[in-house]
Amino acid sequence: MSDETELAHSTLIREVRQRLEALSRAGVDRIPRPPAVARARPHLEPPQAAVEPTPIAPTPEPTRPTPRPKPAPTPEPVAVALPGSLFGSQAIDEPPVPPEDRPALLEALRLEVASCNLCPALASTRTQTVFGEGSPAAPLMFIGEAPGQVEDETGRPFVGPAGRLLTDMITKGMGLKREEVYIANILKSRPPNNRDPLPDEVGHCLPYLERQIAIIRPRFLCILGKPAAHALLETALPLGKLRGRWHRYRGIPAVVTWHPAYLLRNPAAKKDTWQDLQMLMNAMGLKVPGRKPE
Ligand code: URA
Ligand code: URA
Repeated sequence: MSDETELAHSTLIREVRQRLEALSRAGVDRIPRPPAVARARPHLEPPQAAVEPTPIAPTPEPTRPTPRPKPAPTPEPVAVALPGSLFGSQAIDEPPVPPEDRPALLEALRLEVASCNLCPALASTRTQTVFGEGSPAAPLMFIGEAPGQVEDETGRPFVGPAGRLLTDMITKGMGLKREEVYIANILKSRPPNNRDPLPDEVGHCLPYLERQIAIIRPRFLCILGKPAAHALLETALPLGKLRGRWHRYRGIPAVVTWHPAYLLRNPAAKKDTWQDLQMLMNAMGLKVPGRKPE
């Protein structure tokens, strides 16, 4: 594509997205489409308003160039209502990294992050960067906002009070081990006094997370809280409008839910998060134990 066509293309997409978001804020949740257009452009589906899931296949794995050992079998059914491709970012088009190559690539990226100085203010106040941790072959990746005090001190994500709640959500709620999933943040450095990430900081740090996601290639994402959702899904909708339904990030089905730190302040919202986790578990083929984490 020429630069001009590309600019026109991205301007068009931005305008359509903004228009649809404005309609959505005004309560319009579907737009009729002329049948001729529907036939000609089947991929331009309006977003599903929906929470009633219709069975659809998960993102197909791109064809692999060479035979590789089969990954461990993943649980069966995926019943997910997903928005069309116009409303998600461009799917990752490289073939997945073989699982045995992932630890070394992640370690190289971790070292790059550790010496990053793109945000001099954060680099000068952090104790250390917090890269993320978990299985390099995780089927599910949780994405938070930024390290807090305990994370900054230990170099590990979600190990303070909000982290304890996230661990309970993973273990008691979903019946998984923390080491089976992957946990990362949008920002790898702690913002002073835990203030919200600034747009520049997100711009600098997001490419690291994108590379982490491309290496691990989880089947599902769980996005925690508003700043992470806004950074990844390029939307300004409030969290209450983003949770409870499916999104895609670079082709990967994604659920948004309340941030655990918000849940600590507003325990009444835990029932929402439990619903969101159940939606995720159904799609992952995990048995729902029928008990919400306290
Ligand atoms: N909050 C986050 O968003 N991330 C962490 O790692 C810890 C708290
Ligand atoms: N605001 C946030 O930043 N996150 C939440 O989860 C809720 C409100």
